[in-house]
Amino acid sequence: MPNTQAPILDVPDNGVEFAADNGQHPASILDLDVPDNGGEFAVDNGQHQAPILEVRDLEVEFAVDDGKIKVLDGVSFKVAPGQTLGIVGESGCGKSVTSLAIMGLLPKPHGQVVAGSIRFQGEELLSLAPDQMYKVRGNRISMIFQEPMTALNPVQTVGEQLMEVFRLHRPEYDKAQRKAAAIAMLQKVGIPEPAQRFAVYPHNLSGGMRQRVMIAMALSCEPDLLICDEPTTALDVTIQAQILELMKELQAQTGMAIIFITHDLGVVAELCDEVVVMYAGRAVEQADVFELFDHPRHPYTHGLMSSIPRLEDEPKSLLKTIKGQVPALHEMPAGCRFSNRCPHATDLCISAIPAVEQLNPRHHVACHYWKELTV
Ligand SMILES: Nc1ncnc2c1ncn2[C@@H]1O[C@H](COP(=O)(O)OP(=O)(O)OP(=O)(O)O)[C@@H](O)[C@H]1O
Ligand code: SF4
Ligand SMILES: [Mg+2]
Repeated sequence: MPNTQAPILDVPDNGVEFAADNGQHPASILDLDVPDNGGEFAVDNGQHQAPILEVRDLEVEFAVDDGKIKVLDGVSFKVAPGQTLGIVGESGCGKSVTSLAIMGLLPKPHGQVVAGSIRFQGEELLSLAPDQMYKVRGNRISMIFQEPMTALNPVQTVGEQLMEVFRLHRPEYDKAQRKAAAIAMLQKVGIPEPAQRFAVYPHNLSGGMRQRVMIAMALSCEPDLLICDEPTTALDVTIQAQILELMKELQAQTGMAIIFITHDLGVVAELCDEVVVMYAGRAVEQADVFELFDHPRHPYTHGLMSSIPRLEDEPKSLLKTIKGQVPALHEMPAGCRFSNRCPHATDLCISAIPAVEQLNPRHHVACHYWKELTV
């Protein structure tokens, strides 16, 4: 997406009442060619299947100098096979920590899951021994990290690094098979002249090519779930579009589920079936992407949607933002964590944590007043 798009960090002033149709559909704003299905879930993109991943009431703590801080506080969401789930939210709200917890890669020893459940294909990942989790990681779940450039080894060729993935996760392959599989994977992710590129070092490739190598490594074992933590943020718009297209193609071929973490609501509109909105370590809303853009129920989600610049906005008018900042982790409000910024907050919001409520099987929200604030 273009860098000119308002970042989620420029969060909006949501001191306006919600409207039934507020004209905020991404298709009309960002020209993303997203069809308006009127809220009907016409496409079966996996929502009727049992979830491949179910995260329930996840709590993560980090040990810091003066005690412990709770970074995730009751995060719940589900992903169906073949589905793409977007996770959005301001910086520091816990997106990367959530993905690291799923992968069993929280920094040890100070990062710990202290409560909750992560079930993957019916298996509780939190109960697995390290060697069992090692087999899940890479084979069944792969991840493209937020800093992919630093994840490649600068002193190993692209081919060696890819072959290493196959060596670990396809031990039955001999050397020739590993090489053939690595070149085939480079071709699959759209790297021209893959046999030549196999022998080069990461610094010989452009940023977009290196990103494709990272994706090739993540996909090499045909994971059932791919977690992408802002994989395209550092790329220019053209390369980003190519990578997103490629991921959609590969998903169509393999049927893998994808969790896509991003700040970019345009990318969410283009790629995702469902979206989880995180705020200050909690999942505050999850919904079908069309429903979320058209009828956000949580004031924070509404604020994020309002921050998208619109073609019909007055030229040179100020971008809308949510007033205030996310509270520091050790200063979180006792009740709703958004209460110090929410224009609708009451005494109840300040004192009581809002429960997650189900509007329909694919829409959940955690706000005391979602019924009153929406039409
Ligand atoms: N190793 C760590 N030790 C202590 N606190 C941490 C550690 N890693 C993350 N945190 C804290 O956990 C919170 C969530 O961080 P996380 O990296 O998940 O945010 P994020 O939503 O991915 O943000 P961004 O959009 O900037 O990537 C932040 O307050 C962060 O400071
Ligand atoms: S619970 Fe209250 S403070 Fe929190 S989002 Fe809803 S209205 Fe705002
Ligand atoms: Mg992050």
